[in-house]
Amino acid sequence: MSQATTIILGIETSCDETAAAIVVRSADGRGQILSNIVRTQLDEHKAFGGVVPEIAARSHVQWLDHIVAQSFEAANLSYKDLDGVAATAGPGLIGGVLVGLTTAKAIAKATHKPLIAVNHLEGHALTARLTNNVEFPFLLLLVSGGHSQFVLVRDVGDYERWGTTIDDALGEAFDKVAKMLNLGFPGGPQVEEWAKKGDPKRFKFPRPLLKEKRLDFSFSGLKTAVRLAAEAAAPLSDQDVADICASFQTAVVAVLEKRCGQALERFADELAGEPIRLVVAGGVAANQKIGAALQSVTEQYGAELIVPPMNLCTDNGAMIAWAGAERLVRGQIDNSSFAARPRWPLDSEDMKLRAAHD
Ligand code: KG4
Ligand code: ZN
Repeated sequence: MSQATTIILGIETSCDETAAAIVVRSADGRGQILSNIVRTQLDEHKAFGGVVPEIAARSHVQWLDHIVAQSFEAANLSYKDLDGVAATAGPGLIGGVLVGLTTAKAIAKATHKPLIAVNHLEGHALTARLTNNVEFPFLLLLVSGGHSQFVLVRDVGDYERWGTTIDDALGEAFDKVAKMLNLGFPGGPQVEEWAKKGDPKRFKFPRPLLKEKRLDFSFSGLKTAVRLAAEAAAPLSDQDVADICASFQTAVVAVLEKRCGQALERFADELAGEPIRLVVAGGVAANQKIGAALQSVTEQYGAELIVPPMNLCTDNGAMIAWAGAERLVRGQIDNSSFAARPRWPLDSEDMKLRAAHD
């Protein structure tokens, strides 16, 4: 495709955000967000201490049409201006993914525009190209409520997973610790706030897998240690809660710092001669202690740290629209039989640019 600009509608419904955005990609590869509407369902899930899939899917059904309409209004565009329609096709909560993907298929069919079925993780992976014009290759650290991964991003569709969590995702570990301490949902921001008033040295929590060379994470042992400490110290004073949060966060920071150092070393080794770039995505990137640790470890390895603005690190439609644009300009479209997927690893065979078909 050799046209000057590509305008894409992106739809995201894989978890608890109903989101739609319109993004334009110019021929030189630069991107611009024309609108980016996100409706979070936090209030609907709060009482349950986590995301309830059935509630999430119903809420997406109720809101998605409005959010899509708002995204056109804010961009001052209409359907005829689009070059393509992109939606998250997985991985995620299947009910929600179905709502977004089916809506995108209907829009694509009715407007005779191409459909691009986007892997949600690819959306996170490519966001830094939209916001910071980052070039390939780069190392991605994705730390969200559902994922904790290192991925080598060589090109669109060319991903190599270097490490993942063998149990809980990092955001999930923050959320579970917060739940144990009755701090509310989502837990990450609460744990961070309480940790500010706590003694990070009071509890010696384990740093799982730290002595191993592999780039994987494990947080369930740490979570159990936190539970045992909380039970032993019960009834908990505010100071106890603050000390547990600070000690937990310190353990997490130590693990991340060490793992990032190892991953950057591997990058320098395997991609000798390439500038070392670390791109961070996912809600946990909002944590200031984690941000500072990543800053220091990247400096130590002479690497560049790229953290997109926080509203684009968390789930949004712009990242899906952008991934759709990156694929469409490389000739990839999907047909309306593309099935929603609850699981879809970034490094699976069918992430390679799929041959275009009608
Ligand atoms: O990327 P995200 O918005 O949603 C998905 O999981 O897709 O990430 C949300 C996760 C939650 O688990 C939340 O507790 C965590 O990110 N989080 C944080 C902080 N802010 C959000 N974790 C630690 N510190 C924070 N300040
Ligand atoms: Zn996400």
